[in-house]
Amino acid sequence: MTGYIFYTASTLDGFLADENDSLDWLLTQPIDEDGPHSIADLMAATGAIAMGFTTYQWLVDHITASGEEWPYPDHPTFLFTHRDVTPVHPTVTVVAGPPSDHRAAVEAAAGDKGVWVVGGGDLAAQFAESDMLDEMLVSFAPATVGSGRPLFPRAWDFELLETVQNKAFVIARYRVVGPR
Ligand SMILES: NC(=O)c1ccc[n+]([C@@H]2O[C@H](COP(=O)([O-])OP(=O)(O)OC[C@H]3O[C@@H](n4cnc5c(N)ncnc54)[C@H](OP(=O)(O)O)[C@@H]3O)[C@@H](O)[C@H]2O)c1
Repeated sequence: MTGYIFYTASTLDGFLADENDSLDWLLTQPIDEDGPHSIADLMAATGAIAMGFTTYQWLVDHITASGEEWPYPDHPTFLFTHRDVTPVHPTVTVVAGPPSDHRAAVEAAAGDKGVWVVGGGDLAAQFAESDMLDEMLVSFAPATVGSGRPLFPRAWDFELLETVQNKAFVIARYRVVGPR
């Protein structure tokens, strides 16, 4: 296992999605898909994925429901939910409770690669509280939405390791330090 990363995009005012779970503020921005910290690079470094229910449902509603394949068919995915869900793909495993309860399974699934914590922000914070988050990489889009799904709803410290631009985005990579 090479580590846990919360890799996400955010509005300038710190939201992963607006109140209606819209990502319009993100999907309308210019980006170089082959630029720094690309999704392709992330996927190559990722052995397992973790996500919360709203994020999973967004993918089901916007991707799988339109006839496209589940986007991560080669990556074991841990879906955190209290609901009785039948996953859309056999690589998705439903779990509940603190991430630390699932640490052994997550790390076994990741093998010699890393774990991508997709979000949302509260789940990423739960991973941090379980001492299961090493880095946070945020692509800040030049837009605000005023309210919505928060980036990281805790008082926490991060150490800035790197910044780089990819077209509209400022990408900031942080070491996850600990609670303030
Ligand atoms: N900008 C980006 O790059 C980006 C990245 C990721 C997500 N997003 C978007 O941001 C939004 C995130 O939504 P969100 O803030 O609601 O977060 P979320 O993590 O996607 O979903 C939260 C839900 O997950 C379940 N959950 C979380 N922790 C759990 C635990 N320890 N055990 C069991 N269940 C748990 C709970 O649902 P139940 O109790 O109902 O099961 C909780 O209400 C979505 O719209 C998503 O599409 C954007």
